[in-house]
Amino acid sequence: MIELVEGDASDIAAIMPVMEDAFDPAFGEAWTSAQCLSALAMPGCRLLLAKQDNQICGFSMSRWVLDTEELLMIGVARRRQRQNIGGQLLAKTIDHARREGRSQLFLEVREGNSAQEFYRQVGFLPIGRRKNYYKGPDGFRPDAITMSFAL
Ligand SMILES: CC(C)(COP(=O)(O)OP(=O)(O)OC[C@H]1O[C@@H](n2cnc3c(N)ncnc32)[C@H](O)[C@@H]1OP(=O)(O)O)[C@@H](O)C(=O)NCCC(=O)NCCS
Repeated sequence: MIELVEGDASDIAAIMPVMEDAFDPAFGEAWTSAQCLSALAMPGCRLLLAKQDNQICGFSMSRWVLDTEELLMIGVARRRQRQNIGGQLLAKTIDHARREGRSQLFLEVREGNSAQEFYRQVGFLPIGRRKNYYKGPDGFRPDAITMSFAL
C-alpha cells in the first residue's frame, strides 16, 4: 500500500537515492540535493513523498506561481515504475492545484524522455519547446518540451 505524504527539507537526503536511480545520468535531468533544497526554500514549493513500509519509492516537487502550479520534478525508483506510483503523485498534485484554484499545471520534459507519454495519457498537451535545454552525452543538447494540463 502506497502512502502519499507531504515532505520538507529534512526529507531531501532520503529522496536522493530515488532521484539518482530514476533519472538517466546521461542527460543531466536529476537535481542535486542543493538544488532541491533551494527549490524547497522558495515560497509556494511543495514536496510530496510516496512511501511503502516507510521507505520512499517516489517523490514529486511542485511550485505555485500566479495561476499556475509547476511540476518541477517527479521520480519513481526504477524497480517500482509502471505500478501507478507516479500516477498517484501526479493525481494528488492535480487535486491540490485544483483545490487551491490554479488554472493550469505546467511542466517541461526532455524531448525523447518516455515520461512524455506518462504526461500525455493524463491529458497534458505540448505547448512549446525550449531549444537545447538539456546537456546530453557528446555535446548533444536535447530540447525541452513544455506541457500544460488545464485544471
Ligand atoms: C515518469 C515516471 C515518474 C512515471 O512514474 P510511474 O510510476 O512509472 O508511472 P505510472 O505507473 O503511474 O504510469 C501510468 C501510465 O503512464 C504511462 N507511462 C508511464 N511510464 C511510461 C513510459 N516509460 N513509457 C510509456 N508510457 C509510460 C503508461 O500509460 C502508464 O500506464 P501503464 O503502466 O498501465 O501502461 C517514472 O517513469 C520516472 O521516474 N521516470 C524517470 C524520471 C523522469 O524522467 N521524470 C520526469 C521528468 S521530470
